[in-house]
Amino acid sequence: MFQIKTFNAIAPEGMSRFEKENYAINESELPDGILLRSQKLHDYAFPKSVLAVARAGAGTNNIPVADCTKKGIVVFNTPGANANAVKELVLASLLLSVRPILSGAKWVQTLTGTDVEEKAEANKKQFAGHELEGKKLGVIGLGAIGAMIANDAYRLGMEVVGYDPYVSVDTAWSISRRVQRANDLAQVLTTCDFITVHVPLTEQTKGMIGKPELAKMKKTAKLFNFARGGIVDDDAVLKALKADELAGYTTDFADEKLLHNEKVLVLPHLGASTEEAEVNCAKMAARTLKRFLTEGTIKRS
Ligand code: MLT
Repeated sequence: MFQIKTFNAIAPEGMSRFEKENYAINESELPDGILLRSQKLHDYAFPKSVLAVARAGAGTNNIPVADCTKKGIVVFNTPGANANAVKELVLASLLLSVRPILSGAKWVQTLTGTDVEEKAEANKKQFAGHELEGKKLGVIGLGAIGAMIANDAYRLGMEVVGYDPYVSVDTAWSISRRVQRANDLAQVLTTCDFITVHVPLTEQTKGMIGKPELAKMKKTAKLFNFARGGIVDDDAVLKALKADELAGYTTDFADEKLLHNEKVLVLPHLGASTEEAEVNCAKMAARTLKRFLTEGTIKRS
């Protein structure tokens, strides 16, 4: 019987993979495996029994991976399982950044009278927007999410340039034949109208988009962060926005100082918040953990 410990609610579609006769859930303080969503494990005193930690999600920054590795604990995540959810939200945010959908809808609610339609028609000019077609999108990080965004943005008629120092020209080509691969970050920063960041938070990527990078961007450019807070220096972004050196910022990571700024759209980490993504991640994490415990192998298929 394998003992599994869970911290956050994991979709039942994942938990049901652990048959009652072979697995016990949250019955022991000496688990063989841990299955979690976003619980921070940095203060958790790992008992010696733990062999593996499975995160139902892409980022592993809530897990002390280096310490786990030293202790011989395997850590795995579910890359790609929630990529579609994040991709759809990024595309929605790109569209929101050029069409005043939110402000237009809010304004129309204030209208009164039987001639609401006429009033709306007469005043709609203030909500005229722009189109994404023909504009240039920079995708920093060409993993599962970045690659999907690059492909779909291309289908929307955007010119797409991708940058990822860990992805070779050949791999970039296989991700998408339509995405140009930038040789360096500067090429993305200096030429793109929209830039979206899709790298994990690591020592190397912390503050990756800060003052010097923002200074290279077009004044009319808009920046999107659906990767992790900390990758973009929010203070530097606010200064750039204030000085009209950046046109807009959308982030999935709430930070008090960003709120109530009309050039900033802040979301409460909704990237992977769809029922479909929760289920996909739970199933993949459970499958991988189960296979590792029973067979000692890691295979994500
Ligand atoms: C992820 O790391 O999978 C996403 O940011 C979603 C999440 O953590 O909830």
